[in-house]
Amino acid sequence: MKVLVTGSNGLLGQKLVQKLKCDLSIFLIATSKGKNRLSNRDGYIYVSVDVTNKEEVDNVIAYHKPNVVINTAAMTNVDLCEDKKNECDLLNVDAVGYLADACERINAHLIHISTDFIFDGEDGPYREEDFPNPLSYYGLSKLKSEQLLQAHSVKWTILRTIVVFGIGENLSKGNIVLWAKEALCKGDALNIVDDQYRAPTLVDDLADICILAIKKKTLGIFNASGKDIMSIYEIVERVAEYYGMSTDNLNKISTATLNQKAVRPPKTGFILDKSINELGYKPHSFEECLAIMDEQIKTMD
Ligand SMILES: NC(=O)c1ccc[n+]([C@@H]2O[C@H](COP(=O)([O-])OP(=O)(O)OC[C@H]3O[C@@H](n4cnc5c(N)ncnc54)[C@H](OP(=O)(O)O)[C@@H]3O)[C@@H](O)[C@H]2O)c1
Repeated sequence: MKVLVTGSNGLLGQKLVQKLKCDLSIFLIATSKGKNRLSNRDGYIYVSVDVTNKEEVDNVIAYHKPNVVINTAAMTNVDLCEDKKNECDLLNVDAVGYLADACERINAHLIHISTDFIFDGEDGPYREEDFPNPLSYYGLSKLKSEQLLQAHSVKWTILRTIVVFGIGENLSKGNIVLWAKEALCKGDALNIVDDQYRAPTLVDDLADICILAIKKKTLGIFNASGKDIMSIYEIVERVAEYYGMSTDNLNKISTATLNQKAVRPPKTGFILDKSINELGYKPHSFEECLAIMDEQIKTMD
């Protein structure tokens, strides 16, 4: 089986490369914008592909003829999406159309990653069929990408996820758990919102559900988050407790005090029954995720 991953320099893209290249039944084509930032280059080929360039997308897919394409490339900075709506549309919506068209021509399966931000967070946790109502441009762009696929005749799977965290190398952005661990170690006073609830997702779990969707060839929409729902404050508090660090310097603040450009949904989280029953998804508890991540950090040292 040939699998092509887009955005392979990103958090999920890197994890997919790491996992898929170990599967000898898979020929892996990793693609991202610019140079390959992964230090381990064995077991896969790398092609520089800007997914917003239709010609590059058409060429790489027509040439390699993958059976499956996993699209992890996206503009994921929620506030930046408010400022750069055209760029956001190009990457989060138009590029998905280019991939869908190219996949359809060779009958390939397209797996696309979406987000809890398609919901307004008034009524979480959400099921797959719940009514979307994005509050931010990022959320709207991801919803538009979902609607594009739903109206397309390509074989598609949408995996919706939430606050992804984990280990990667040379990443262009941080993630909540790594940030919290570092800030707690420094002993800084931390102001953390306690009125936004999420189900943080270990990138390894997200990569695993992508691989389940590849192997089972299951189509449709699936929730693909962590299983524990908690406030952002509680995420940081549980990181502190896991590492035996003091929570004395943690202060609760409200979202209103942050003045963020993009509006965030107050309470998301997903009901995972469909993914567990139909895909065999086995998400870890938050503390299990921290332990997995910690082992990975130790082997890097
Ligand atoms: N992270 C989260 O908390 C979260 C939550 C919900 C949903 N999601 C969704 O999950 C998916 C994966 O997220 P992630 O956290 O792995 O994102 P990420 O770390 O930002 O990775 C995205 C990758 O896409 C690359 N990229 C940017 N523009 C590109 C282009 N034009 N062509 C090809 N590649 C391009 C980026 O390159 P550079 O590294 O060079 O910038 C980056 O490596 C996305 O669809 C995202 O919307 C993420």
